[in-house]
Amino acid sequence: MGKVVGIDLGTTFSAIAYIDEKGQPQIIENKQGNRITPSAVLFGGKKPVVGERAKEKSIADPGNYESFVKRHMGERNYIFTARNGDTFNAEKISSLILSKLKQDAEYRLGESIDGAVITVPAYFSDPQRNATRDAARLAGIEVLDIINEPTAAAIAFGIIKNLTTKQRIMVYDFGGGTFDVSILDIDEDNITVIATNGNHKLGGYDIDREIFKWAKEEAEEAGFDIESDIKALQSLMIQAEKAKKELSFEDETTITVYIRGEEFTVTLDREVFEEEFVNDIIGRTLSTMQNAMDDAGLKYDDIDKIILVGGSTRIPKVREEIERVTGIKPSAEVHPDEAVAIGAAFHAVDVARQKADGSFNSGVQATDSEKDFTIDKDSLPVLDKSYSFRDVTSHGIGIVVDGGDRFINSVIMDKNTPIPAQIICDEYQTSAPNQEAIFLQVTQGEDEDLQYTMIIGEAELKLRPREYLVQLRIIVTCDSDAIIHVHAIDFDKGFDKSNGVPLGEVKINRERFNMTEEELIEAEKHIHRLNIGD
Ligand SMILES: Nc1ncnc2c1ncn2[C@@H]1O[C@H](COP(=O)(O)OP(=O)(O)OP(=O)(O)O)[C@@H](O)[C@H]1O
Ligand SMILES: [Mg+2]
Repeated sequence: MGKVVGIDLGTTFSAIAYIDEKGQPQIIENKQGNRITPSAVLFGGKKPVVGERAKEKSIADPGNYESFVKRHMGERNYIFTARNGDTFNAEKISSLILSKLKQDAEYRLGESIDGAVITVPAYFSDPQRNATRDAARLAGIEVLDIINEPTAAAIAFGIIKNLTTKQRIMVYDFGGGTFDVSILDIDEDNITVIATNGNHKLGGYDIDREIFKWAKEEAEEAGFDIESDIKALQSLMIQAEKAKKELSFEDETTITVYIRGEEFTVTLDREVFEEEFVNDIIGRTLSTMQNAMDDAGLKYDDIDKIILVGGSTRIPKVREEIERVTGIKPSAEVHPDEAVAIGAAFHAVDVARQKADGSFNSGVQATDSEKDFTIDKDSLPVLDKSYSFRDVTSHGIGIVVDGGDRFINSVIMDKNTPIPAQIICDEYQTSAPNQEAIFLQVTQGEDEDLQYTMIIGEAELKLRPREYLVQLRIIVTCDSDAIIHVHAIDFDKGFDKSNGVPLGEVKINRERFNMTEEELIEAEKHIHRLNIGD
């Protein structure tokens, strides 16, 4: 009988956890004996290498090395080309990382991994969530559920602390590639997300880049031709991250790289580091945090606790600034690198039990493989406590409308709407008399300006022409798995039918962002041939 696990698929580091027979959460070490695994892949050998060995060896072969692909999930035009010409999209690279986690966990536990809950940033859009699901499929992992990282951290916090009274908490998750903030109410057995906000392009990696740019300029000023030495550039990027980590504990650090065989050393002290490289980035997290508070209609006095999650919260300045702005001393009660995977592992046991009972309902139709999921209920650990939770939409959902001088985004379902949800909107009409069809484009995003909005689906829906403008009803539905449906109805007042005439559904255009079924089948063959090296 196998195990079910929780996986935190991070931008820079990933972690995998399970719940032991005694109901205690355990992080599963990788083959190298580490509790977190760099989300990095090196090609070029017989088999791709994933994790710390990929990172270490990348200096000798930077052209075959790829990392930070989580930032490209749901982007169809992102491709990494290995030096032998093989190409990989973000799903494929992520699937190699997931395969390594699965393979090492099976090696450590001596059992198969039968299912996993995988976490994503709360701020991930619909296509990014689908891409994560596809990556798991390519890795041969049965996805039990996809949940938001801050919610997973809150589950871990609630269970480990055995909460019995209601608390309003803020999860401040500052990782390697993304910043997420969620405000949640948590009591003995329920988690209700009130608001969530974030930036999926803001993380510790951005601080590394700042240090890297500065050190590179220093090297150039000292007369080194670093630009032409790609191995030195790769080494500098790794040194920049190391220096940043050291400055969380030391007042000063040195960076040393060999450029065309010659040593270059530069010193960085904490004051300059904070002033030049982190204050601005922390400031951006603080204003996102304020936006989440505004969305929730709350003041910092209303928050009982701020929980820190993510490796970048180890930077002392992050903690100081949060306390300065909110007046609340942030809590380090959960492990910043492990809480998300642990919360996911607790949820995995819960979902597996519900699936075994036939009581699990994610709100989406089960796929064939999900229907086949079987697990021996008696093999699951008994939990003293479990949480049911209600999440919110992380982006507005709307349609494109004629705004007079330009086309604009008109939001129908606001962000932070508790899901599942349905919004019915009767405010739209055709733009000209005798229109024979409407061209409906579905948007994801808050901004009126289409430049900052994603078009996630579109369809031309036929209409019976009339000499006047026809009123339309648009229905937006979002189920508990954050899957969106949009329907249009001819709602002409002249009609006798009070419910109007259905015009059809605008299908979310997955192929625009995600792999098609045919591509997935092809990719499965390719990935399974590759196998992960040690
Ligand atoms: N002591 C430290 N001081 C400063 N930064 C640190 C420290 N330890 C780890 N980090 C940084 O934390 C980041 C990794 O955090 P984490 O593992 O939570 O992120 P992730 O899960 O990979 O990313 P994300 O959640 O954004 O997808 C890296 O940028 C790493 O350099
Ligand atoms: Mg993370």
